[in-house]
Amino acid sequence: KLMKVFLTRRIPPEGMKILSAAGVCEVSQWDSDEPIQRADLLKGVQGAHGLLCLLSDKIDAEVLDAAGPNLKVISTLSVGYDHLAIDEIKKRGIRVGYTPDVLTDATAELTVALLLATARRLPEGVEEVKNGGWSSWKPLWLCGYSLSGSTVGVIGLGRIGMAIARRVMPFGVKRLLYSGRTAKDYAAEVNGEYVPLDTLLSESDFIVVSCSLTPETQGMCDKAFFSKMKNTGVLINSSRGTVMNQEDLYEALSSGQIAAAGLDVTTPEPLPTNHPLLTLKNCVVLPHIGSATYSTRGIMGALSAQNLLGGLQGTDMPSELTF
Ligand code: GLV
Ligand code: GLV
Repeated sequence: KLMKVFLTRRIPPEGMKILSAAGVCEVSQWDSDEPIQRADLLKGVQGAHGLLCLLSDKIDAEVLDAAGPNLKVISTLSVGYDHLAIDEIKKRGIRVGYTPDVLTDATAELTVALLLATARRLPEGVEEVKNGGWSSWKPLWLCGYSLSGSTVGVIGLGRIGMAIARRVMPFGVKRLLYSGRTAKDYAAEVNGEYVPLDTLLSESDFIVVSCSLTPETQGMCDKAFFSKMKNTGVLINSSRGTVMNQEDLYEALSSGQIAAAGLDVTTPEPLPTNHPLLTLKNCVVLPHIGSATYSTRGIMGALSAQNLLGGLQGTDMPSELTF
């Protein structure tokens, strides 16, 4: 008898192919590119043996209860798993698959692109070309900040943080600082110096937030954090939006406490078009596209399907979250 799986969205075809070729499950799906409503999620998961979800789906006790006792596996099409109620999942003996590693390079690339775009004011420049603000070459116009000779601070030197560090070093970065729970041996490759967060904040020209969202990092970037940064400091966040206190960020950016910010993640997502941060020229906001390359999303789709199948069949998953 086929096992039942529920997909909360259309996923890359690479993943669908693997699921249908396996011939072990009957797939039902929220067949849309738009998010599933809560009520439809609660209905859709009923009786499912497997659930494939996205980072925008909150999977908590209510969803798990709605699914019922068949549920063996949750496979998320993301590296982040802060949307999953891990304690509740663990209590029920459900396995979890996720997609680390395969999106590291794409996410690091995007983060460096965002850093350069923010530091060198690319969106402002593009806008000036379009609106006629480009009147001549001007010595003092649209000046930004250079990576060359700078100090970069990475908060959370994990897989993605390290991939970012590797990519910025060739720009002539002078010092690479990092902070987090522990020092990392592999940081030697980028001459990374493990420092207390306060040191990182006060000495870095560029700060990249690349940690996972935990109770410790939730709201970490607040008034006190910004007050320790340089006035010329540029802050980049490609982790999770709630790491940032956005009201404090608005204040820090508009008062000149810090120079600029580039965000690939916000609270909420999508950020409302009338959000105050979007009125600031020194804030560059992207729509959470860190892993968005054709190849990476295809591989994420395939991996999440393989994780789902492993969980359904009680075999190895290529990327199982251990907790
Ligand atoms: C993206 O933010 C992810 O967690 O994969
Ligand atoms: C995220 O997956 C990281 O380890 O940086």
